[in-house]
Amino acid sequence: MTSITHKIGVLGAGQLGRMLAIAGYPLGQQFAFLAQSEQEPAAALGKCILAASAEDQNAVKALEAFADVVTYESENTSVAWVREMAKTTPVYPAEKSLFYAQHRGREKALFDQLSIPCAPYQIVDSLASLTQAVDALGLPAVLKTTTEGYDGKGQFLIKETRQIAQAWQEIGGRELILEGFIEFSRELSIIAVRNAQNEHVYYPLVQNVHEAGILRYTIAPARQMMPKIQAQAESYMTVLLDALDHVGVLTLELFETLDGLVANEMAPRVHNSGHWTIEGAHTSQFENHVRAISGLPLGDTSPRQPLAAMVNIIGETGPVEEVLKMPKAHLHLYDKAERAGRKLGHITVLAEDEAELFAQMNALKAFLPTLDA
Ligand SMILES: Nc1ncnc2c1ncn2[C@@H]1O[C@H](COP(=O)(O)OP(=O)(O)O)[C@@H](O)[C@H]1O
Ligand SMILES: [Mg+2]
Repeated sequence: MTSITHKIGVLGAGQLGRMLAIAGYPLGQQFAFLAQSEQEPAAALGKCILAASAEDQNAVKALEAFADVVTYESENTSVAWVREMAKTTPVYPAEKSLFYAQHRGREKALFDQLSIPCAPYQIVDSLASLTQAVDALGLPAVLKTTTEGYDGKGQFLIKETRQIAQAWQEIGGRELILEGFIEFSRELSIIAVRNAQNEHVYYPLVQNVHEAGILRYTIAPARQMMPKIQAQAESYMTVLLDALDHVGVLTLELFETLDGLVANEMAPRVHNSGHWTIEGAHTSQFENHVRAISGLPLGDTSPRQPLAAMVNIIGETGPVEEVLKMPKAHLHLYDKAERAGRKLGHITVLAEDEAELFAQMNALKAFLPTLDA
């Protein structure tokens, strides 16, 4: 009898690694995490290899010795590190996906090259080049750091010319990208998975609602979605997966506009907007990532019920015992200490129709932002 068990090494030990392990154990997989401390969310879910720093060679060697395959939790993972590790152990997604996804300028250049619509943009590195870019793109425009931004951090929405100097002062002094503002009706995302055998699967488009740059909730599938829009999103993903030779989960954030879908950014990893798939889809994004990087057949991505919503628990844990009383709600806590703006967990609710979904969202009001917040 052949075994499908793999030893999976994960660079990082946050909630994504934790949910990856929870999904991988039923398949018999084993996990090791490269962690900064034993308090991290995934540290107790496998072999915990403590790294003094991201460059800690002994820790990296220990992960390499353990793993059949290595994956990572963050697009800020070092490309040089992945290249080095890949000499001895397969790393998925490979260097190329990471290289494009970790730099907003490279990412947009790739979208342009693949004819995937995205915001017009210019790279800027001085107040003078920012002023010139504002002239070229017009206002409003969104100024962002080219690397390392997340949850809306490292961004400045420039509405008027008089804010240019302030924007440069707040986030400048490093390479930035100015993006033309996209007038969107909704924010959507799509998650696709590819394995090394070139099998592709796609989850349905979902709708994401952010507040202060942080994802607050996701409705899955997105309401009133025409099949041709889903097909458009899948066509963007097909060319991206193939161009990157991507193995694993790939997420694309999109703006829905009158002219169709405009790409915002991609992530070469499992994504917060896919957490609903744990209970909401036949195969979760986490299980499909594990399957993909282990060379296993991919699982069915279709929803198990008409509708689901995923609500993030941000900053403080809140009245979670009430959630446990709700028959169609699923609570996930990541074992993290409370801190403003921090993702501590999420709740997924399942529903037969919109009325049932919104009744449950209403019951979860304590976890949702107030309208005037
Ligand atoms: N070009 C743009 N036009 C309009 N809104 C934007 C644009 N870029 C970003 N945003 C808004 O800012 C949010 C965060 O930007 P994003 O590029 O996704 O950064 P992050 O890495 O922080 O998620 C988006 O979800 C969207 O609401
Ligand atoms: Mg984003």
